[in-house]
Order: sequence, then C-alpha cells, then structure tokens
Amino acid sequence: MSTLAIHILHGPNLNLLGTREPETYGHQTLADLDHDLHTLAATLDVRLTTLQSNHEGALVDAIQACRDQVHGIVINPGAYTHTSIAIRDALLAVRVPAIEVHLSNVHMREPFRHHSTIADVVVGRVMGFGPVSYDLGLRGLVAHLRRS
Ligand code: DQA
Repeated sequence: MSTLAIHILHGPNLNLLGTREPETYGHQTLADLDHDLHTLAATLDVRLTTLQSNHEGALVDAIQACRDQVHGIVINPGAYTHTSIAIRDALLAVRVPAIEVHLSNVHMREPFRHHSTIADVVVGRVMGFGPVSYDLGLRGLVAHLRRS
C-alpha cells in the first residue's frame, strides 16, 4: 500500500471557525480541525497538506497546483460552493478526484445554499456532521483512490 498525497482546501470564512456562528459551525477552530485531520491521515498512510483562503482565485490556483502533485482533494468551498464556476472548471481541468464537504447540512438551510456548482464533478459529498464531515470525506476519498 503506497502513501497517498491529499490536499485539503478550506474556502472563505472557514478561518473564523470557533467564533463564527457556533450554533451552525460548532466551537472547534480551523487549527484544531486540521490537527485532527493530520492525526487521522497518519493512520491512513496519507500525506496531508491543507490550505484556507478567502479568495476564489487563490482557491483556483491551489486546485491547479494539485495537478500531477496529489492523488486527491477534499474541498469545502464555503459560500463559493453556491456561486463558483471557476472552482468547478478548475476541478474539471486538473482531473484530480475530489470530495465536497460541508460542516452544516446545506439542504436544511436557505434555498440559495441548496445548489452546488461542483456536486456533479466530485466523487462524493459529505455534509451535516460538523468536523466529522471532513473525516468521512477523507476516509471516502482514500477508499476510492485505493480501489481505483
Ligand atoms: C459551508 C456551507 C456554506 O453554505 C457556507 O457558505 C459556508 C460553510 C459549510 O461547511 O457548512 O461558508 O460550506
């Protein structure tokens, strides 16, 4: 079993986790979330890198940089989930398998959150489990990569 390289991408406002709308997003900070993901990654023989950006273009750059560099992407595009054709196009361009994750269940929220521009170009979607959405997304991506 070879080591997998996986990049975690966090979109806008996720740097404020812990203080941002805790009733929706919980009390865990992004640093804690990333720390726990690194711990999980070690048990899965995954080399993990993480990035958070509030800027759509920076997220596009980060996805482009994944081409031929990592085996898979776990992405929470934040509000760009609902608007960004550029992020969708970048995922299609690099052809790196990706999982879409959300802390909240976007389908239980405002109608404008029900649409995702990337839903049909990702391997799978996990939402509604708080930070565990990322754990499940990472585990799902590893299973997908190891069987393909
Ligand atoms: C989110 C859901 C989005 O609708 C929202 O804009 C976010 C966070 C989530 O993780 O639940 O910023 O992606």
